[in-house]
Amino acid sequence: MKRRDFLTALSGTAFALGTAPSLGQYIIPQGQVRLVFNENPYGPSPRALAEVKKILALTAYYPDSPYDYPIRDKLVAAIAANHDLGAEQLFVSSGSNEGLQAALMAYGKKGGVLTPALTYDAHLGYAETLGIPITRVPLREDLQVDLTAMEQRIDESVSVVYLANPNNPTGLPIDPDKLRGFCRRVGDRALVIVDEAYNELMAEPTQDSMVDLVREGANVLVTRTFSKIFGLAGMRVGYGMGRPDIIDRVGNHIMAWPNGIGLTAAFHSYEDQAFIAFSRQKVLQGRAMVEKTLRDAGFAPVQSEANFVFVDIGRDAQAFREAMGREGVLINGGYAGYPTYIRVSMGKLEDLEVFDRVFKRVIARA
Ligand SMILES: Cc1ncc(COP(=O)(O)O)c(C=O)c1O
Repeated sequence: MKRRDFLTALSGTAFALGTAPSLGQYIIPQGQVRLVFNENPYGPSPRALAEVKKILALTAYYPDSPYDYPIRDKLVAAIAANHDLGAEQLFVSSGSNEGLQAALMAYGKKGGVLTPALTYDAHLGYAETLGIPITRVPLREDLQVDLTAMEQRIDESVSVVYLANPNNPTGLPIDPDKLRGFCRRVGDRALVIVDEAYNELMAEPTQDSMVDLVREGANVLVTRTFSKIFGLAGMRVGYGMGRPDIIDRVGNHIMAWPNGIGLTAAFHSYEDQAFIAFSRQKVLQGRAMVEKTLRDAGFAPVQSEANFVFVDIGRDAQAFREAMGREGVLINGGYAGYPTYIRVSMGKLEDLEVFDRVFKRVIARA
């Protein structure tokens, strides 16, 4: 279900219960538990918030000088140093979504996009609107991305491959050695975009990342975001890492004038190791709680390496999601080809305690 449709569907259910049902104004109705968009409710980092407050009065100005972009350059330099890359191997975008859309615009015109049938798809919908053909390859029975079938499917009609690692909504990581082999073999035929939105939450973030292929000069674009572990979803900052020619080509499709508040918050979050470690620990703790709730109720959650859990509840997931929503707990559920699966995002631990109680109550009568 598309995010916009989802919000429309919700307006008749959980939102009707709240006092001030306006997500647009960032008011979460009292008593509502929001486990739906894979955010980090413990964010933003206190350091980021303190720095943002200092610059609020300067937002009358574009976040640059006539000759450079001080805060963007600082952020790019920090990310580049962390990954042993040069500044010319990075772009910053308005959320990783803008970078993903830009990459599909830059590379999806010659041929189309090849992607798993079940994956994150906001940018894919946008590409389709632009007339870029999308070919979707079914997941394997075990819900893993089928790299073998995808590789076989690459011909002259495909110019870009999109993969999320770990995948959303399954949360499953892709075997890093198999993915490296895949990227190296198909690189002469197509650009491979590896979306690492949840990388920092993986068991082995460095080993599982394809950034080493960027350093090797492979035909790969790795995207990351400040929306997940960094808890800045509303500030809209993401970035991409790739060969300078790839960055150049994608960068031509990224809008000018990045968001100065977002860049400031991103830079100070990136440096805030204590907050990052705290957030990771809360997500892992929360994931274990949600998995326990599901197992206690007799279900087998997919082994997620992200801040959400995907599970087959053996009944109409959309109806179940709506029933949960009526009790003030917002989750996602009902996916094309997977109508009996729900996805539960992490919330604060106390929210997950509410999830535990409500889930058990609703599942007992569903
Ligand atoms: C895999 C994946 N990529 C990208 C995004 C978009 O993130 P951003 O907020 O950086 O645009 C999401 C958001 O849920 C996601 O799950």
